[in-house]
Amino acid sequence: MLLPSKMKTSLKQLVKFYLVIFPTCFGAFLVVYFAEKKVSLSIQTRDQTVHCDCNESYTRPDPKETLSICSSDPQDDPLVNPLSKFYSVWYDPPTEKTLTKPEKVKIVFWTDLWNNHLRKKLPKGNRSLCPRFPNCIFSKYRDEIHEADAVIFENSNLPKDYNSSLMPTVRYPHQHSVWLSTECPNYPSINFETYRGVFNWTITYRADSDSLGGWGSLYETYQRLKDEGVDPMKDYTEGKKKLAVWFISKCNTQANRIAYATELVKHMHVDVYGGCGKNDVCAKWKIKCMPKVIRQYKFYLAFENMKCKEYITEKFWRNALENDVVPVVLGANRSDYERLAPPHSFIHVDDFTSPKELANYLKMLDQDKDKYNAYFKWKTTPPKNMPLDEGRWCNLCRELLERCPTKRKVYTDLRTWFEGENLSMCDPKENVKYQELRFVENHFELAHQTN
Ligand SMILES: *[C@@H]1O[C@H](CO)[C@@H](O)[C@H](O)[C@H]1NC(C)=O
Ligand SMILES: *[C@@H]1O[C@H](CO)[C@@H](O)[C@H](O)[C@H]1NC(C)=O
Ligand SMILES: *[C@@H]1O[C@H](CO)[C@@H](O)[C@H](O)[C@H]1NC(C)=O
Ligand SMILES: *[C@@H]1O[C@H](CO)[C@@H](O)[C@H](O)[C@H]1NC(C)=O
Ligand SMILES: *[C@@H]1O[C@H](CO)[C@@H](O)[C@H](O)[C@H]1NC(C)=O
Ligand SMILES: *[C@@H]1O[C@H](CO)[C@@H](O)[C@H](O)[C@H]1NC(C)=O
Repeated sequence: MLLPSKMKTSLKQLVKFYLVIFPTCFGAFLVVYFAEKKVSLSIQTRDQTVHCDCNESYTRPDPKETLSICSSDPQDDPLVNPLSKFYSVWYDPPTEKTLTKPEKVKIVFWTDLWNNHLRKKLPKGNRSLCPRFPNCIFSKYRDEIHEADAVIFENSNLPKDYNSSLMPTVRYPHQHSVWLSTECPNYPSINFETYRGVFNWTITYRADSDSLGGWGSLYETYQRLKDEGVDPMKDYTEGKKKLAVWFISKCNTQANRIAYATELVKHMHVDVYGGCGKNDVCAKWKIKCMPKVIRQYKFYLAFENMKCKEYITEKFWRNALENDVVPVVLGANRSDYERLAPPHSFIHVDDFTSPKELANYLKMLDQDKDKYNAYFKWKTTPPKNMPLDEGRWCNLCRELLERCPTKRKVYTDLRTWFEGENLSMCDPKENVKYQELRFVENHFELAHQTN
């Protein structure tokens, strides 16, 4: 050692050691110590560089080399996927926390979900909403956000304009702020501009979401059939004495489905129930009642209240398909249904030049057992390469467990991604004024006329 030998020689040097060299070294130690600490604590923003201010020769390890799961996603390349211009992607240097694939993940609900359902779904204590991934824990307690890998913000429970005092105070670089929406873009949404740069991931019904959170899917449908079993010889006309049924809750002039149905009911008999119908067969939320009613019919009008890209709801997946009744669909384009729904499982209104022609076709099918049963052939032949969909919570668990731990992504233009330019993803393009309707006898009329 250099210093002690010098120290021996003179008191002057000893004094110099204690007053100059030691403090300098100790100071340097402190600088290095806290710089090191900073590494494991920080990396709050994408621009902040770390480590390098204390060691010039340090070069960022390429995450693609360090972590085999971190291959770059071609979908993030604007040349491959035009939608990628709505977000930015980068890779943070690996830290101790992100160097390995996580074995456990935690998801915290920052907002409530829809109408307060969260409280019922998530009892006290750590629990997985997805038993298939027991290491994926969900919590409704905001103070557990510090352990969270993902934080969920449900669209209808967010303030319209971004308000920092209602959001988490800390954002961790590895943590995903997830925007969850199950509705169409032209349904009242947050003011996206004010949330620019807030959300890292999306969960919606759209196939290009970061995590799928739809109302149903091919995968789930065939998975259920696997459990139930399918009888290829079954006659699906059995026990069906009635023609067509329609459950409609939002009954107003706004939706394009009303204009279509108004015309349709002139040419065939449709039983109309729900907020609009004159007599309700099932009380609200009586989930078990609906299947019993629906199963008496040959056709179910699965008319969506909005026409939006890939927007196919429980009307189709649950009410119709699960009850062995042929859905007559109005909503997303036929090409969307062809891509997302079982082959030859539905009748799309766009295939007919008029509601009258559709009515004639349905009446023809009503008389033709074989043609009607052809709409159930899909059950015996599952398509190959169905996109994996295990329900929104399991999908999110899987995405989190399988993600590249150093990959960062944030939406800079969520609005255009979701709505398209000038709401091209939807029809109608805006929320027009509407009037309440009622279905009386066999036609619609303005609600106030009957009051
Ligand atoms: C600087 O970083 C390099 C590469 O990580 C390492 O080998 C070296 O020991 C570091 N030097 C100091 C003084 O920390
Ligand atoms: C829930 O998990 C956290 C760690 O993620 C743990 O600290 C806490 O004790 C757990 N609570 C219960 C009730 O198991
Ligand atoms: C943000 O939220 C806080 C707390 O609820 C409220 O007091 C404040 O008025 C809100 N700010 C805006 C701009 O709405
Ligand atoms: C439906 O298809 C038409 C024609 O291809 C297209 O112009 C329209 O944008 C599509 N609508 C939706 C909601 O995807
Ligand atoms: C989420 O976005 C924020 C803001 O840009 C960023 O700091 C954070 O690292 C991102 N997280 C992930 C997991 O991408
Ligand atoms: C959207 O609307 C604006 C203003 O009306 C118009 O200038 C623009 O060309 C439209 N964009 C598309 C893609 O239609």
